[in-house]
Amino acid sequence: MFTHSASAVDPNSGVLRINVSSLAALVPVGGSVLVTFDAGATQLLINRSSAVHFHVLNPTCTHAGCTVGLYVASNNGISCHCHGSFFSISGQLLNGPANRPLAAYQSSFDGDDTLSVTVPGLKFYIASMQLDSENPAVRRLKLSFPTHSFATYSIQRTNNLTDAPQAITFATTATGAANETILLGSGEPMSVWVDASGSSGFFTLSLQLYELS
Ligand code: FES
Repeated sequence: MFTHSASAVDPNSGVLRINVSSLAALVPVGGSVLVTFDAGATQLLINRSSAVHFHVLNPTCTHAGCTVGLYVASNNGISCHCHGSFFSISGQLLNGPANRPLAAYQSSFDGDDTLSVTVPGLKFYIASMQLDSENPAVRRLKLSFPTHSFATYSIQRTNNLTDAPQAITFATTATGAANETILLGSGEPMSVWVDASGSSGFFTLSLQLYELS
């Protein structure tokens, strides 16, 4: 199910910035949600343990690789349905047969609505930005970036860093109509073309997150 977008601009850190309020399950303390951005190849189990604390875990069970369930507040833990391992809200091992905790992603919460999650190897940044000269009648900027297979991307723009970025349309060829809003990643570097007329601005690449359960 489509939930919302998250964005990142730093090529080294691979930080996803997630708007917590857009994931209804995470609004209450004790909430838990499983999300992906690449059709399940990467999964994030996000648990809320207080108003300002979240735990972002790799849901792959450390026993034999099954995907564990959500955190269940009434059980105060996370169960693996394959062989019964049991983990705490932060992924600590409470009962085997697993013998290690769940792997955790580094994360921080800004105290308001943004949960930042560092995902190792996340290729998520605008690699180059250049004025395109193939169509001199229209000033266009060519944005190129690596993509993940089955991930969906959108482009946002803001005139200054204090205003919230707004989604904009783009073209997928240098001279095509700039009427696309979503790009499906191929696993290879891809490019889009955006309107470069008008005043200066900032462009952000956004990655759509999907809720798995
Ligand atoms: S795979 Fe999770 S307990 Fe065996």
